[in-house]
Amino acid sequence: MSKVELFNDHFQNYKRYGIPKAQLLIADIPYNIGIDAYGSNPMWYKDGDRANGESKLAGKTFFNTDERFKIPEFFHFCSRMLKKEPKAAKQAPCMIVFCSFEQQFELIKHAKENGFEHYINLVFKKNFSPQVLKANMRIVGNSEYAILLYRDKLPKFRNSGNMVMNCMDWPRDNITPKIHPTQKPIKLLERLIEIFTDPGDVVIDPVAGSCTSLLAAKNLGRSAYGFEIMKPMCKEAREKILTISEPLLF
Ligand SMILES: C[S@@+](CC[C@H](N)C(=O)[O-])C[C@H]1O[C@@H](n2cnc3c(N)ncnc32)[C@H](O)[C@@H]1O
Repeated sequence: MSKVELFNDHFQNYKRYGIPKAQLLIADIPYNIGIDAYGSNPMWYKDGDRANGESKLAGKTFFNTDERFKIPEFFHFCSRMLKKEPKAAKQAPCMIVFCSFEQQFELIKHAKENGFEHYINLVFKKNFSPQVLKANMRIVGNSEYAILLYRDKLPKFRNSGNMVMNCMDWPRDNITPKIHPTQKPIKLLERLIEIFTDPGDVVIDPVAGSCTSLLAAKNLGRSAYGFEIMKPMCKEAREKILTISEPLLF
């Protein structure tokens, strides 16, 4: 039976919980973009309209918890909680870290220092841009980034004989209740979890936010463990996301 647990705690306190080691560690780390988190997003204004004046999100960070996130502490956790390198081929664990474009370089450096020698960059293509306020001034972003990190052996790879390319579509998720500003689409998380794990494997998300990664893992029969510091976020995730019992139809 797969198990799903969310801990309302800092991932740094993981030893308290005795959770099993992960085949896949998936994390969407805080982007640390400071007070312009809603910069070119219509949410900067009341009801998304400049004529109404600024909303309470103008000039704000996504969450003040984000400022306390430290990449070296994150890698310490990952190197402890990701399964050790197996002897057999095609069984190795890996990590997927969603990040900003700029964070990729720092992540690769820290990853190497922690034994994750190899990486593949992933790019996700949206058919929309959140930066609509800049749309008549400059090119606007419609991509998201992640890095796949592994130690030595190539990770488990369940591709069903199909080629998997590093530029993937970002399916828009208008169905799952939206409780986090950087919430990831369930279908995308399912796709990634399906490629790098088997049913029964353990998935860990140390910065779980709305817990979409835990829901995606649960939908696929994987066990999932997450940490999230914000109490109200954990409450909402438990009530609105982790209670979804059937995979949603898209
Ligand atoms: C980018 S968000 C994750 C969003 C998530 N992927 C989703 O789909 O909802 C990062 C989250 O990490 C949490 N966080 C930051 N530092 C943390 C820590 N040390 N331990 C646990 N959670 C932390 C923040 O509160 C924030 O909700």
